[in-house]
Amino acid sequence: MKTIVSGIQPTGAINIGTYLGSIKNFVALQQAHPDHHFFLFIADTHALTVPQDPVKLRQAIKELAAMYVACGINLKQTSLFVQSAVSAHQEMDVLLQSFAYMGELERMTQYKDKALKQTSGIRASLFTYPVLMAGDILLYDAEFVPVGDDQKQHLELTRTIAERVNHQFPDFFNVPKPLIPELTARIMSLQNPDQKMSKSDPNVKSKILLTDDAAIIKKRIRSAVTDSEGTIRYDANSKKGLSNLIRIYAALENRTISDIVKRYETSDYQTFKADLGDLVASHLEPIQARYHSLLKSQELIDILNDGQAGAEALAIKKVQRFKKKLGLGLNR
Ligand code: AMP
Ligand code: TRP
Repeated sequence: MKTIVSGIQPTGAINIGTYLGSIKNFVALQQAHPDHHFFLFIADTHALTVPQDPVKLRQAIKELAAMYVACGINLKQTSLFVQSAVSAHQEMDVLLQSFAYMGELERMTQYKDKALKQTSGIRASLFTYPVLMAGDILLYDAEFVPVGDDQKQHLELTRTIAERVNHQFPDFFNVPKPLIPELTARIMSLQNPDQKMSKSDPNVKSKILLTDDAAIIKKRIRSAVTDSEGTIRYDANSKKGLSNLIRIYAALENRTISDIVKRYETSDYQTFKADLGDLVASHLEPIQARYHSLLKSQELIDILNDGQAGAEALAIKKVQRFKKKLGLGLNR
């Protein structure tokens, strides 16, 4: 069975950067590969790399699960589950710690960025996080891993770890390929187009949440930072803000950048922004309706239980085989 694996951390409301950079591509990828099974999870253990309020964390897990389903994940082709519920992830993490090197982890830019923002109490799990992530992927012998640009380095490390294990135990892991979308790998903040749109940005005007209502969405886009040139054209260097909006437009309509630029070449920013506001709001409307009904339903719990069983069926066996290869236990 060929597999696709991905996960997102339940660490706050989901914005259109995460949606366009990852979730929307999950759906497209499933359609393009109907013979691949998708192991999709809520990466809750990863969230513990920084302090969390347990009540908020549990709520965020539920919200992310509902959002995955609302965004159109094909459940017939997917095992959707909560990472911590499948303890093989923790076991694989421990085993792979012995196949990753300190120097490799020290080079991870996300670790360096996050550690720099903290003055004390940097958790060991923040440092070893890429190993847990490698385990998430290798447990299912993923063929593809769809992620945004910021996960590229972690995927490279996953491949290195897989190759290192395979060197000792030939063909034990499939070496996964990252799938990073070209157009939407980095959706930028609406207020500062030099920074990516981020869950952790405290400025609410910098992003559009998938749960924002139409009035807010239109307002956020109207106030998005652009430039004073007044001409609608794509230039990711000198017109970062407008180009970011053009990418959002093109991604939502599944069109190319030049299609959109051509359509608006004689328009002004105000018209373009108003149309984009309508487009985002109408795209999100059915997702929001499904999301709110799922959150209250037993259906979501059933989906997660089924997903957990599907994931465990594969993951437990893989861990057992790995332990045996490594010479652990007595294998009676
Ligand atoms: P996060 O929302 O940071 O937990 O990331 C979840 C997934 O969405 C990862 O694959 C990220 O690479 C991707 N992602 C997050 N923010 C963005 C963004 N602004 N643009 C594109 N992809 C993103
Ligand atoms: N580290 C990823 C993020 O922060 C989430 C993640 C955890 C993940 N495990 C994964 C993504 C495995 C893809 C595959 O976005």
